[in-house]
Amino acid sequence: MTPNTPRVFESVSEFIAFRKTISPDITIGFVPTMGALHSGHASLLKKSASENDFTVLSIFVNPTQFNEKSDFTNYPKTWNEDLEVATASEVDFILMPTYEQMYPDQYRYKLSENDFSKKLCGGSREGHFDGVLTIVMKLLNIVSPNCAYFGEKDYQQFKLIHDMAASFFMTVEVIPCPTLREDSGLAMSSRNVRLSGEGKTKAGLIYKIITESKLASEASEKLTSHGFKVDYVEDYYNRRFVAAFLEGVRLIDNVEIK
Ligand code: PAF
Repeated sequence: MTPNTPRVFESVSEFIAFRKTISPDITIGFVPTMGALHSGHASLLKKSASENDFTVLSIFVNPTQFNEKSDFTNYPKTWNEDLEVATASEVDFILMPTYEQMYPDQYRYKLSENDFSKKLCGGSREGHFDGVLTIVMKLLNIVSPNCAYFGEKDYQQFKLIHDMAASFFMTVEVIPCPTLREDSGLAMSSRNVRLSGEGKTKAGLIYKIITESKLASEASEKLTSHGFKVDYVEDYYNRRFVAAFLEGVRLIDNVEIK
């Protein structure tokens, strides 16, 4: 059977009005994204579709989490392909709000965390996680899902959102989903389209090196010797986290430390 095309909401108030019509015994799974959907997103959406009555996908490129304006303006926008992925992944509703709708206060209010969010990606991208936590809180309040799904590729983001939900006694269950990888080992990401074919193969070394090195410092040295510009390789919460540039593209990954 061909899956139905999802219903698209471009208005937050229309979505909220519609959400009120859904009976409380219907379960809602939610996958927030910034679009440019790839197989990693599809796996989150399919998991949500298999575990809930309805799945909501949001697409919103959130300016408050970018500290480089060019990174924000160059963020890939692939609406036609996104709709295909959403349809094939059995998404029921897509929320695509505007900046004005999401930030009626012009970001006067924001949410921040004062420990883990300052490390790793937060250390080199000031205010990044304030932007992420703020937009995710707003979206969770709008969608009011039973479960929300996040990829482990952004494990720091997943943990911060998971712990935020616990800290604020939110009823949503924040669910981690395993990282999907290319054959080379490269973690799937919307940014990978900016790598050359050769770059994509070479970027597979990140996963191999952080998995095989005994120490974070050793992994960092090996990546540098292969031509990566390392931002960090550090261990927290039994995981090894890495951010490194290749061909000017910032790539992140993490693995469990055995
Ligand atoms: O992971 C992302 O795509 C974004 O950080 C998120 C969670 C959609 C918030 O803008």
